Amino acid sequence: MAERTCPVWVGYFLASPVRKLYHNPVKILSPYIKDGMKVIDIGSAMGFFSIPAAKMVGKSGKVVCIDLQKEMLEKLEKRARKAKVLAQIELHHCSENLLGIDSLKNQIDFALAFAVLHEMNNVSNVFNEVNKALKPNSKMLIAEPAGHVTKEAFELTLNASLKNNFKVIGEPEIRGSLSALLEKK
Ligand SMILES: C[S@@+](CC[C@H](N)C(=O)[O-])C[C@H]1O[C@@H](n2cnc3c(N)ncnc32)[C@H](O)[C@@H]1O
Repeated sequence: MAERTCPVWVGYFLASPVRKLYHNPVKILSPYIKDGMKVIDIGSAMGFFSIPAAKMVGKSGKVVCIDLQKEMLEKLEKRARKAKVLAQIELHHCSENLLGIDSLKNQIDFALAFAVLHEMNNVSNVFNEVNKALKPNSKMLIAEPAGHVTKEAFELTLNASLKNNFKVIGEPEIRGSLSALLEKK
């Protein structure tokens, strides 16, 4: 695991309900997630976004939660059971350089990558995998912590998305974040 990978103990803070006062997951996600959708949450950690997303997609939808760390996913599973949305959640343990989502080709309605891309070795590969998984014209929301990631580094991330069949269609305002709304061409 890379040195920059978010440790599990930080995962507890990220999943804390107090964070909702700063990052309201429903407000952030509701413009994009609708009933019945199939969503991927890349770098889901303990599910701060995945669990509200699972409520939004409802019984006929799914949220595939992808993370490098098994402990994050195990905790997410417990939290999802408690929130009574486990049936909508699919856990996917990935490796450091590969999400491994070929089986989702053209199935995904929306992708989220919140505060994770700066922890990854090769964002270009990630955009390539996500682009293949998305249905045509589907969207991906990316947000990076403005404190950790410079504007220049974020520009490089956006360039990597453009090279992988995405276009930038918006810049949603998210507290403390550099963000972009991408669309699969
Ligand atoms: C800073 S946390 C953000 C968690 C969550 N998105 C949120 O905003 O609450 C980053 C998460 O990404 C995961 N991660 C780091 N590198 C990854 C990779 N290459 N593939 C998938 N997940 C990764 C970490 O294990 C961690 O759970």
